[in-house]
Amino acid sequence: MISSGEIKRTEINHNNLMLTCYNGMLKIEIITPDIIRFKGTSGERFEDNYLFVIEDEFKNPLSIEDSLISDTDDSISINTESININIDKSFSKITISDKHNNILLEDFDSAFSFEGEEIKFIKKFSENTYYYGLGERFGKLEARGQKRILYNLDCMMYDKTDQLYLSIPFIIASSVSSKEEATDSFSFGIYSNNTFKTIADFTSDEFFSMSCSSGEMDYYFIYGKTPKDVIKKYTSLTGRMKMPPLWSIGYHQSRWGYKDFSKIKQIAQTFREKEIPCDAIHLDIQYMDGYRVFTWDEKHYPSPIAYLKNLKNEDKINIITIIDPGVKKDSDYDIFKEGVKKDLFCKRKNGDTFYGTVWPGTVAYPDFFKENTRDWWATLVSSLIRKGVSGVWNDMNEPVLKMKGKSNIDDPDMYHSYKDKLYKHKELRNLYAYFMAKATELGLTKERPNTRGFILTRSGFAGIQKYSAVWTGDNNSTWEHLRMTIPMLLNLGLSGVSFCGADVGGFASGSKCLIFKVMKKLDPSPELYARWIELACLTPFFRTHTIFKSKDQEPWSFGEEVENISKKYIKLRYQLLPYLYNCFYEAHSSGVPVMRPLFLNYPGDKKTYLIDDEYFVGEDLLVAPVVNKGAVDRCVYLPDGEWINYYNGDIYSGNKEIIVNTPLEMLPIFIKDGSIIPKYENFIQSTSDIKESILLVDVYLNKSSNSYELYEDDGFSNDYQNGLSSKTEFKYLVKGESVEFTIKRIGDFLPSYKVMKLTLKNVSFSPKKIVTNTFDMGSEKYKDIVKVSKNINYKTSTGMCWFLEESSMPKYSPNDVVVIIPNKKIDKVHFTLFG
Ligand code: GLC
Repeated sequence: MISSGEIKRTEINHNNLMLTCYNGMLKIEIITPDIIRFKGTSGERFEDNYLFVIEDEFKNPLSIEDSLISDTDDSISINTESININIDKSFSKITISDKHNNILLEDFDSAFSFEGEEIKFIKKFSENTYYYGLGERFGKLEARGQKRILYNLDCMMYDKTDQLYLSIPFIIASSVSSKEEATDSFSFGIYSNNTFKTIADFTSDEFFSMSCSSGEMDYYFIYGKTPKDVIKKYTSLTGRMKMPPLWSIGYHQSRWGYKDFSKIKQIAQTFREKEIPCDAIHLDIQYMDGYRVFTWDEKHYPSPIAYLKNLKNEDKINIITIIDPGVKKDSDYDIFKEGVKKDLFCKRKNGDTFYGTVWPGTVAYPDFFKENTRDWWATLVSSLIRKGVSGVWNDMNEPVLKMKGKSNIDDPDMYHSYKDKLYKHKELRNLYAYFMAKATELGLTKERPNTRGFILTRSGFAGIQKYSAVWTGDNNSTWEHLRMTIPMLLNLGLSGVSFCGADVGGFASGSKCLIFKVMKKLDPSPELYARWIELACLTPFFRTHTIFKSKDQEPWSFGEEVENISKKYIKLRYQLLPYLYNCFYEAHSSGVPVMRPLFLNYPGDKKTYLIDDEYFVGEDLLVAPVVNKGAVDRCVYLPDGEWINYYNGDIYSGNKEIIVNTPLEMLPIFIKDGSIIPKYENFIQSTSDIKESILLVDVYLNKSSNSYELYEDDGFSNDYQNGLSSKTEFKYLVKGESVEFTIKRIGDFLPSYKVMKLTLKNVSFSPKKIVTNTFDMGSEKYKDIVKVSKNINYKTSTGMCWFLEESSMPKYSPNDVVVIIPNKKIDKVHFTLFG
């Protein structure tokens, strides 16, 4: 490898610093005081800007003259408001440090090195620093010791593979303080903005590297005080998810092999009969006519409009259809003919259409990099939506070029055209699914501009979160894959993809060549399915899916015990939808993921950094699923503070490990002390039932004060983008034998539940009276004192109703104080509870 070497010339331009190295050039741009872009090339000039996934507001660098620059014979340094960048001129070695002089990132020897087309950077590992991210990754949570090849691959039934369906060249690092004042803790991210095949290598003891098979070294360094800070900035750079439709965060049922519409209807009805909540069923490839995309098999899936309408109206089921990019080569197939006629497919060098083989046989690939192809695809997607389809599932979109035998994905004779420039497939392969998702989204919004769409994708690149949810492809029905689900989803979340999930129960297992023969004995056992439902019931995307010809894999397919367990946990998810939806709002507005590794919420606690068999949902719920066969108890690490058992209110002190009993029906969940948790009542069968429900707000008062903000909107339209939403702030202050409580709602949206039932739990004194001192309802203001007696409802003239309920946490007080507040009056509520 040739390294960039000594810096021979420095050129301070208006918005970049251009350094001529002994070998190649180095360019530095300040995007924001916290985001710096470093580019390196072995050539004598830089290619045009490469901004496929970068959000508009970050496309132009700031003026570099605003940052303090000092240029001496030995080094050149740039100081922004938050970091200092120093480049040692003798080796072009970059060192980035924070304002406390902590070295954040340091080149191992020089800024970059290259050989042939390959270009790479090598960075020293820092002490007490942990590394994560890289999107979809099969392995432990932290990256050290692992290698990841970032080049999208169909890797059915992957096993310990380092190359998967979806590639995100983003590393996030967090250091944990060794000093008490914590001035030496920091976090940073590196987003490598190169779309060629890239190898991220963490196997050395001293350094890590990212090596791109071609193109320029081009990375954004992102500084943050905490890892959450870094994710916020990374997702502002590459985009954030839109608010998902509420139904899409309910439970989804799928299998490859539902043979016809009557089977789908029967599945939908079984959910309703058994009262197991469900919001969506997926149609896999069989609904199509000979796997021709955007067609329907008339024999088995006739009259889709009528069927889908019936499923939606009678069973409250949304239908999601699979779509593969490959368009069957068939001279009787209009979509193929149109694609050829309008010149919308990917080409060979000689201008002929490029063909591959997927489910339908020979297929052509839409060139999603062309705007007119995306518009055409969008029209086709719109036609699906017109039939009543609610969401689209993009599969085989790495893309798969050949189903059987060896496929050349490294450098096929395939070309893409982006903004009139021709690119070889190997340069844009990683972005194919991203642009397919962009086209799909266009189709969803074209047809129903004010309805939120849902897209699920298998493949993708950095920024895919803007368009689509992600599932982790064809996993296996094994305990190992169950275990790996947690770190995989956590790393996706840390890489900007909040809306992600894995096939519940596992998709398949067994030897790749014998799949259909060995399938039977490798279906998930009842125990594995039950544990998988438990693990997944609070993951952002929640869907059971399984391979063709496997045994049934519905929540009721494993006997009564597992059916009851499945029902219990699917119901639990539905009950927690308000909390979960709020977490999605956080992901939408700040990028901080719904499902979080422990260190993300507790970056100061070193013990959290390697834990990858527990996760947080948002800020307040800690979930510790059982991931081992036969385990009847498990060890759970609880961070500092007090933790409340979700089911029985038992309280544990944190900063230590505890052992919890985990019979098959037990998913350990702990609530952080002081939390305020919004929930629905139990009976929701699908999100369309919410109109009938009431909102429960559980307040755990074992802290002196806390607050929580609940975001709400209609859950299906895009009116929230025009401000039709509301935020309700709950706040309490415990002082001796009194609790002061305020609720304030701002925003124009009025949620549809009729009442809010606020339950104050863990009241540490015996409550005797409540003073409503400022219950402001328009012009009417008054003061009311209510004597609370057990089980006696006390209704005030405002419609607020108070009573005591037997406490689920008698350790503190035998009673919970319950307040029922009419939804319409929640704008401002203020009361004090006295002992
Ligand atoms: C791929 C998908 C899988 C789907 C199958 C058939 O293997 O990953 O989810 O069921 O194709 O369409």
